[in-house]
Amino acid sequence: MQVLQQLPQFAHPDLLVGQGTMDDAGVFRIDAKQALVLTVDVLTPIADDPYVFGQIAAANSLSDVYAMGGKPVAALSVLGFPVDEIEHKTIRAILAGAWDKVREADTVIAGGHTFKDFEVKFGLAVVGLVHPEKFVANSRAKPGDVLVLTKPLGTGVVTTALKANRAEPAAVAEANRVMVELNRVAAAAMVRVGVDAATDITGFGLLGHAWEMAQASGVELVIEWGKVPFLTGVRELAKAGLFPGGTVKNYEFVQSRVEFSAEVDKETKFLLCDAQTSGGLLIAVPEGRVEELLKQIERGWVVGYVREGLGRVVVI
Ligand code: CO
Ligand code: CO
Repeated sequence: MQVLQQLPQFAHPDLLVGQGTMDDAGVFRIDAKQALVLTVDVLTPIADDPYVFGQIAAANSLSDVYAMGGKPVAALSVLGFPVDEIEHKTIRAILAGAWDKVREADTVIAGGHTFKDFEVKFGLAVVGLVHPEKFVANSRAKPGDVLVLTKPLGTGVVTTALKANRAEPAAVAEANRVMVELNRVAAAAMVRVGVDAATDITGFGLLGHAWEMAQASGVELVIEWGKVPFLTGVRELAKAGLFPGGTVKNYEFVQSRVEFSAEVDKETKFLLCDAQTSGGLLIAVPEGRVEELLKQIERGWVVGYVREGLGRVVVI
C-alpha cells in the first residue's frame, strides 16, 4: 500500500525484510537458523459458495509466506461480518473452507479475532518459518534470470463476470480451482532448486508485481505476452469490459512505467494488469536451473526474462 511507504520505517538488525521493498511478507530473524515470516491479508467474498470463498481466502493469505520460500506454521483467523444480517451457517461454511485449507498446508489455526462489519471480510494472519539466509525476496532478480509463472491469469475478470451474471459455470469452476490451489509445491521447489527472486501475483496484477520486482532488484523485466497463460474465455470477457476496479487502477498505474511494444492490443494490456486473488508465483530463476524448477513445480510457464536496467518492465 502506497500510503505505508510514507511512514517512518523500523530498523532493527534482525528485521531482514520490512516495509521498504514492497515484498510479500515481513521476515524477522530469531537466531542463525530460523526467521519468522509474518503476513496478514483479508478479502471480501469473491465466490458464490461460502466454503469455496473460505478456501480461497486461506490460500491467498498463506501464499505470502510461500512467496518468500517459507513454510507456514500457525495462523489466526480475522473475520468481520454483519452479525444480524448473515446466517450463521454461511459463516460456518467460510470457516470450514479455511480450516480445510490450513490443514492441507500442515498448519494450525491458533485463534483469531471476530468483529462487526457492514460486509463480510475474511482472511488469515500467518506466521511461517524460513532460514534467515535462504528466504526468497522480490529484490534479488538478476540479469540473465528466466521468469516462470505458476498459475494462469484472469481470476479478476472471471469473478467480475460472475457478479454480473456473465460467466459460464465452467469458467467459474476453473477460476475457483486455480484460486483454491496452494502455492506450496512451487514454494518448496524454488527453495530446493535455488532461485534468485519471487513474488506472488495478487491485487497488483502481473505487471504491477513485476514492476515491484524490477524496482526492488534494480533490473529490467521483459514479459513475452504471447507466452503468458490465461484462463479459458477471459479474452471474450475482457472484450466485453468485464474488469474489476483494481484492474483498471493497475492499468492506469503501469501506463507510465511499463513499455509495451506496438502490437500489444488493449485487451492484452488489461489482462496482463488483471487484479488476481490467490494468484501464482512469479519466479526469477538462473537459466541453468529452469528445467529442474519446471520439473519440480509440476505446472509452470516461462513468461520472460530479466536483463540489466533500472526498474522498468517491458512487454514484447
Ligand atoms: Co503477495
Ligand atoms: Co498479500
